[in-house]
Amino acid sequence: MTFSRAIKIAPSILSADFANFGAECQAIGAQGADWVHVDVMDGHFVPNITFGPATCAAIRPHIKGVMDVHLMIAPVDAYLEAFAKAGADVISVHLEAGAHMHRSLQTIRALGVKAGICINPATGIESVEYLLDQIDLINVMTVNPGFGGQKFIMSQLEKVRRLRALIGERPIHIEIDGGVTIETAPLVAAAGADVLVAGSAVFSGGSVANPAPYGENIRAIRAAAEAAR
Ligand code: DX5
Ligand code: ZN
Repeated sequence: MTFSRAIKIAPSILSADFANFGAECQAIGAQGADWVHVDVMDGHFVPNITFGPATCAAIRPHIKGVMDVHLMIAPVDAYLEAFAKAGADVISVHLEAGAHMHRSLQTIRALGVKAGICINPATGIESVEYLLDQIDLINVMTVNPGFGGQKFIMSQLEKVRRLRALIGERPIHIEIDGGVTIETAPLVAAAGADVLVAGSAVFSGGSVANPAPYGENIRAIRAAAEAAR
């Protein structure tokens, strides 16, 4: 992975057909997705359950770009190696999910994987200030994690602007996760984000049998974001 601040569209397979993940990953890749965002939920840190490392390993061969694994689980440290072995390129952990974030982030990097920190809408950026040399990505949650299809929380735009200034020239991606649409993509791009996760906005209207809408959605979100920079 070479670092760039170009806009990356990362469809979340939380909105894909769960019975058909391999084909869904291939379809969004063919339709222009840059990254594939993989939402792992435990029913404990968040009120929903998705899947674990075995599913990540199974879909990895069907992903041509970056596999971006978002861990919404607590505790997290005992599972990091399994997600690295499953082929994750980026593993992100929640600041709110553990007391020893330096340790978790160091473990991820020691496994040869890019390390990300996720912050919930109620968490301030001062919490990441002393982690900046430990991370390759910050995921700013613009919904409360747990479900796709929620409404974008507008107050997070100010947080993204402040975070962008705090990061300066450091090679750290700013990822936005939750409620990204053609309407909100320009707002977050203008505020300084470069990785846009989108679940419902990418998968709506399409399917493995009819993937063209995926491409239309991805191109529309990308164009809206790029025009705002
Ligand atoms: C929420 C997940 C998101 C979610 C985004 O907990 O982390 O990645 O799938 O879904 P949309 O784009 O539908 O808000
Ligand atoms: Zn996510």
